[in-house]
Amino acid sequence: MIEYENLFKANKPFLEEYKKAFDLVLKSGWFILGDKVEEFEKNFADYNNRKFCAGVASGLDALTISLMALDLPGGSEVIVPSNTYIATILSILHSGYQPVLVEPDISTYNIDPQRIENAITPETRVLLIVHLYGKPCDMDPILEICKRRNLFLIEDCAQSHGAKYKEKKTGSFGDLAAFSFYPTKNLGCLGDGGAIVTDSPEMYKKIRMIRNYGSEKKYYNEYIGLNSRLDEIQAAFLDIKLKHLDKINDHKRALAKLYFNGVDPKYILPAEHPDYFDVYHIFNVRHARRDELKKFLSERGIKTEIHYPVPPHQQKAFSEMNSLKFPVSEEIHRTTLSLPVSYFHTEEDMHFIIKNLNEFL
Ligand SMILES: Cc1ncc(COP(=O)(O)O)c(C=O)c1O
Repeated sequence: MIEYENLFKANKPFLEEYKKAFDLVLKSGWFILGDKVEEFEKNFADYNNRKFCAGVASGLDALTISLMALDLPGGSEVIVPSNTYIATILSILHSGYQPVLVEPDISTYNIDPQRIENAITPETRVLLIVHLYGKPCDMDPILEICKRRNLFLIEDCAQSHGAKYKEKKTGSFGDLAAFSFYPTKNLGCLGDGGAIVTDSPEMYKKIRMIRNYGSEKKYYNEYIGLNSRLDEIQAAFLDIKLKHLDKINDHKRALAKLYFNGVDPKYILPAEHPDYFDVYHIFNVRHARRDELKKFLSERGIKTEIHYPVPPHQQKAFSEMNSLKFPVSEEIHRTTLSLPVSYFHTEEDMHFIIKNLNEFL
């Protein structure tokens, strides 16, 4: 059987390092926002070529706190891709703003820069982009629009640790960039975690306060903050894994290459382009008979996932959006299938999957 993901197997190479780190943190007697968090924050800021990094409790919080830190008028509009994971849209609602959904490009699955301009109104303040599946967005036109229309840029890098657009890392473009360290992510911890990176000392200071009850000095509160802090133990694990992140990404890229070389071109494969250094958090194929294909592979012992089965505007939780139509997103959600592409998967696994994918046709 080929599992879609197995987090024990994916973390096994780092087990001994984790155990040592756990011992050290336990003996230190300090468990939240301490030396380990600071060390990791410094290393992660460096990795992304940013000046500052603040660890928080999750990717959703990283997005919410980023938006809160902008301190915009309530109801300000935030442009966001219509096919993103629900968390991106929730962060906009949690911070009191209005999401405005814009369709993705059907070949990259990332927000279509051509459609952004039409969605801008006098209330638009932020462009919140998502480097979905580990592929960077088309940054040149996005940066140009933000500059010309005076919009803040926030990057959702939950799926794109280490990905690059024209040699520049995702997370290094926006006023702020938010990361998730959910265990399945390319840089995942052994629980929940997240981080925000920025070059702005003012934003950084504010974010550090918002994550900790709006307080810099204990019991003195300057903002209506949250409790969203990173644990020492997770920071210690993340610091270990960060040293291996490029290797993890290279492994996923090598697996992707085997898919590109072996999968029948009748499937719609992810777009490849020399400008995009894609880290394949998810490797998807699209096919009109997606559900049948999923069942076929499952019967042959290959587990797959769907990212995502229901587009955000059709979710029950967003009933006011249910009547809207986003045909590109709907098409992606109807046809996409995510194939195994984890750190523990082998070349043999790929050949077996490719053989079965091609037999399905
Ligand atoms: C694109 C995207 N944004 C945000 C998040 C939220 O991250 P977390 O689950 O750590 O809150 C995720 C995580 O699944 C995600 O995929």
